[in-house]
Amino acid sequence: MATKKSNTIKLKFDSARNLAPAPESKSAAKIDPRYDLFINGKFEKPLSKKYFGTINPATEEKLSEVAEANQADVNRAVKAARAAYDNVWKKMPAKERAKYIYRIARMIQERAREFAIIESLDGGKPIRESRDFDVPTAANHFFYYAGWADKLEYAFPNRTTQPLGVAGQIIPWNFPLLMAAWKIAPALATGNTVVLKPAETTPLTALKLAEIIQEADLPPGVVNIITGAGATGAAIVNHPDINKIAFTGSTDVGKIIQRAIAGTNKKATLELGGKAANIIFDDAPLDQAVEGVINGIFFNQGHVCCAGSRLYVQESVFKEVVRKLKDRMETMIVGDPLDKNTDIGAINSRQQLETINKYLKIGQQEGAEMYQSSCSIPRKGFFCRPTIFTNVAQSNRIAQEEIFGPVLAIQSFRTDDEVIEKANNTPFGLSAGVWTDKGSKIFNMTTKLRAGVVWANTFNKFDPTSPFGGYKESGYGREGGLHGLAAYVNIV
Ligand code: NAI
Ligand code: MG
Repeated sequence: MATKKSNTIKLKFDSARNLAPAPESKSAAKIDPRYDLFINGKFEKPLSKKYFGTINPATEEKLSEVAEANQADVNRAVKAARAAYDNVWKKMPAKERAKYIYRIARMIQERAREFAIIESLDGGKPIRESRDFDVPTAANHFFYYAGWADKLEYAFPNRTTQPLGVAGQIIPWNFPLLMAAWKIAPALATGNTVVLKPAETTPLTALKLAEIIQEADLPPGVVNIITGAGATGAAIVNHPDINKIAFTGSTDVGKIIQRAIAGTNKKATLELGGKAANIIFDDAPLDQAVEGVINGIFFNQGHVCCAGSRLYVQESVFKEVVRKLKDRMETMIVGDPLDKNTDIGAINSRQQLETINKYLKIGQQEGAEMYQSSCSIPRKGFFCRPTIFTNVAQSNRIAQEEIFGPVLAIQSFRTDDEVIEKANNTPFGLSAGVWTDKGSKIFNMTTKLRAGVVWANTFNKFDPTSPFGGYKESGYGREGGLHGLAAYVNIV
C-alpha cells in the first residue's frame, strides 16, 4: 500500500517539475543603469563620488549601480529631513499628511507589476511571492497608516501625542520594499520625517519608491532614501540630529546599534533574528500542518526573521510527518525567480549562500541526518535545495542559530511541558507556530511560548493591523498596528 501511494505521488512530482516555463517579462520593469541619492526631493550625486553594483542573484549579472553615501551625504540627508520636519511636515494638518500617504499607496498599486519584477530581479525571491505578498502588503501598510494620520486622538485617547522628529531607518534585504513601507508609513502618519537606507544587495525597489514619492509631490526632505552598506548605516545611527532609529536586520548589528545609542536620547525599535519553533501535536490535521511547515521554512528561501526553522513533532506522528514533508519537498520547483511556477528562488547573495552551506556542513558534523530534495538547480546564480535535518539535538548549532535559508531542523517530543521547554530554549523569541485540533492546547501554548507572535494552525500570516516584534535577542519594540504608531510618538 505504502509503495503504491508513493509511486502515484512520484508521477505527480515529475509532471509538476516538467511544467513549461512561465516567465514574467523583464521588459515591464524600467531599471536605470545608475541611481543617485534621493535627498530633499531630488536625486543628488553622492559627495563620496562612489557607486557600487547590485546584481541579480539568480544570474550574477549586474542590474544597476547605486551611490555609496558617506558621512557628508548622511549629513545632507539628515539636514533635509530636519528642515522638512521643522518647516513643513510637523505643522501640516494631519488630514493633509494622510492624503500624501494614500497617494503613495495608490501609486504602488498602479505600478505593482513593475515593483514585483524588480523585487524578484534584485533580491531573488519568486515572482509569485513579490507579486502576491510583498507589493500588495507594502501598499496595504501605506493605506492602513494613512487612515490613522488624522485619528491619533482615537489611537491614544485622552492623551496628546507629538512626533519624535527625524527617524533614521535601516532595513534588510529579505523584504526590501515591504520593510521600507513598514518603516516609512507609520513615521509619516505620526508627523516624523525620514532618512531610510535599504540593504546593499537590494536597493532598487526603495529607489523606485523614491521616484513615487517624488511624483506624489511629497514636500522635499520628508522622505530621504540613501544607499550604502554598513558604514552608511552606522553614520545614520551615530548622527546627533536623529531622534529615532528603526532597524531590522541581524542580532549582531542590533547589538552594535544598542551600544551606539546608549546614553543618547535616541529612541529605537530593533527587529532582529529568530529561530521559530513550529509545533505539531498528534491531533493536528497533518496535511494542513505539513503545508504550514513548508510555507514556514521555504517561503522567501527561508530568508525570513520569523521563519519556522525548528520543527517539533509529537512522537506518535513523527515518522508520518517526516515522510509527508519529504514527499512535499519533492514537488517544489527551485529556479528562475521570474518564473511563475518557481517555489524557491535564488539565495540573496553569494555571502548568504556560503553561510547556509557552512551550516549544512556543521549540521552533518554534529551528527544530524540531512535530507535534500532531488530537484535540479540552475548552474549559474546562488541556489540551495530545500533541506531538512532529522536526528537533531537541542544543543546543535543548527537548532540554536539563525541560518536564514531553506533549512529545517526537526526534533520529536512527547509532552506539552517538554515541547514548551524546548521551544523556549533559544536566545531568540520572535515567533512560533502551533498545530492542534484543540483550542485549549492552543491557549496553553500561546501563554507559555516566549515569542512575540504565535500562529495557530497557520504560519507567516501578516496584516498591517497586527503588531510584530520580538522577545530576548529578537529585539524590542513593535511594528504594525496601533503599537507601530506608538513607536513614533512621544505621548504627553
Ligand atoms: P545586517 O544586519 O548586516 O544588515 C541589515 C542592514 O543593516 C543592512 O541595511 C546593512 O547595510 C545595515 N548595517 C550593517 N552594519 C551596520 C552597522 N554597523 N550599523 C548600521 N547599519 C548596519 O545583515 P547581513 O549581514 O546582511 O546578514 C547576516 C545575517 O543576519 C543573516 O544571515 C541573517 O541571519 C540575519 N538577518 C536577519 C534579518 C531579519 O530580518 N531579522 C534580515 C537580514 C539579515
Ligand atoms: Mg541585488
